[in-house]
Amino acid sequence: MLKIKQYGDVTEFKAAKTILGRPIYKTHFYYLGGLLIDTGPHHIADEILEALQNYPPEKVVITHQHEDHTGNCKRITEEFGAPIYARPEAAGVLANPPEIEIYRKIMWGNAPAVKTEPLDSYILAGGYRLEAIHTGGHSYDHTCYFEPQNRWLFAGDFYLGENLNGFMIGENIVEHLTGLKKLIALEPEIIFCGLKGRLTNAKERLVRKHNSWWHLCCEVKELYEAGKSSSKILSEVFGGEIFFYYFSQNNWGRCFMLDTILDNLDYFDGNKRTTHKGCSN
Ligand SMILES: [Fe+2]
Repeated sequence: MLKIKQYGDVTEFKAAKTILGRPIYKTHFYYLGGLLIDTGPHHIADEILEALQNYPPEKVVITHQHEDHTGNCKRITEEFGAPIYARPEAAGVLANPPEIEIYRKIMWGNAPAVKTEPLDSYILAGGYRLEAIHTGGHSYDHTCYFEPQNRWLFAGDFYLGENLNGFMIGENIVEHLTGLKKLIALEPEIIFCGLKGRLTNAKERLVRKHNSWWHLCCEVKELYEAGKSSSKILSEVFGGEIFFYYFSQNNWGRCFMLDTILDNLDYFDGNKRTTHKGCSN
């Protein structure tokens, strides 16, 4: 499945593999002024390459290394001659992709190996200049792109929503919170999200996410220091584990969010335990 929407100069592609006619996970990627921001999953490469004939990429930038965002880098380079720009943390992974879990192969497919060019602190897209903002969090290489004139934030998988769903193994809560603060300080108005598409009230959304996660972390800390076990906290605070934990071969779940909070308890003590200043906006 591939659906295309136009928001002024920004073209949004909503891509998903379908099973029995139903999309199983939607990944959004974007085109602006000859720049493609992410490339969609390899499972629907032919559909994406056909659509891009009307939006020929002159260059590609990626938000992070995950295969639903990088799955067509190689095909696009071959078809259009477009260079792929990526942070150094992602370059090695894209050049030599690791084995991925079965659920990822089913949902998105492997991303074929591709050579990348070093990403600068900004990238030009037609008449637009996008600042590259390294956030980490969702993955250690995660980078958002901010267009300051229109206050657009191309957020990849950094935002995803305000509610707790779970973490992939290895996600870092401190990177999430510091990344949210970085993005809030930019005062974005529109999020172009990798999961949810175009979203208004960007800053307010980021502030609410930061504050709700911050309070969740403080609650975990207090319970843990009061002697509650991690399994009790998982049950009482997080509502237990989610089914996707088992489907993902123990690779994605609420327990990984709890783990990274417990690994970083020092971050949540003393005078840091305050609501982010932007919360009232
Ligand atoms: Fe991702």
